[in-house]
Amino acid sequence: MGSRRILVAPSLLACDFSRLADEVQQVQEAGADWLHVDVMDGHFVPNLTIGPVIVEAIRRSSRIPLDVHLMISHPEQYLKAFIDAGSHYVTVHVEAPGLRTEGVLVNTLETIRKQGARAGLSLRPRTSPEALRPFLSSLDLILVMSVDPGFGGQAFMPDMIPKVRQLREWFVGDLAVDGGINAQTGRQMRQAGANVLVAGTYVFHSTSYHEAIRSLRG
Ligand code: DX5
Ligand code: ZN
Repeated sequence: MGSRRILVAPSLLACDFSRLADEVQQVQEAGADWLHVDVMDGHFVPNLTIGPVIVEAIRRSSRIPLDVHLMISHPEQYLKAFIDAGSHYVTVHVEAPGLRTEGVLVNTLETIRKQGARAGLSLRPRTSPEALRPFLSSLDLILVMSVDPGFGGQAFMPDMIPKVRQLREWFVGDLAVDGGINAQTGRQMRQAGANVLVAGTYVFHSTSYHEAIRSLRG
């Protein structure tokens, strides 16, 4: 996968929300390819973050794709709201309670695509890559979590490197990694086959967004 272009998606969870439009502007100018937006509902994960209203405001402040990561129990109920708000990529979790019933996950992925967005599927660190296998042909993006979802600033889990390697053998689409990504862990994930690096703390707590984004590309 060495020839594939590496995409960097700063995670806005780590930005200064009192200056949201300005932060969006600055990471764009610093070379961000996508903006990663973390949506949490206080059920699927213990934290609460943002909803479609803020996604729509980010959309109006930005000119690069919005990569919206739904860490919510019932993503199937909110697809239209997030797509209408301007999401380019909508990623749901394979473990989401609302998607467990037979057929609902496939319908959800199909609905995302029919409504004009790209469909992503994510998995928690403890979830086997096998859980994604039945859905590969319905996916544009896989998002491998390299921390337990819910909070920024956690330590990278090295066990996720072989998981990325395994998924890359099966999947030719965009393979993203999220959680604890910096220049060093980013290089390990690129070598394992990831082509999209999501990074919150590493980018937004750096002294130069440009330098941080450049270092992730390797
Ligand atoms: C965690 C989120 C991540 C988070 C990454 O649940 O999905 O996108 O913002 O933050 P860092 O890069 O600080 O680990
Ligand atoms: Zn995320």
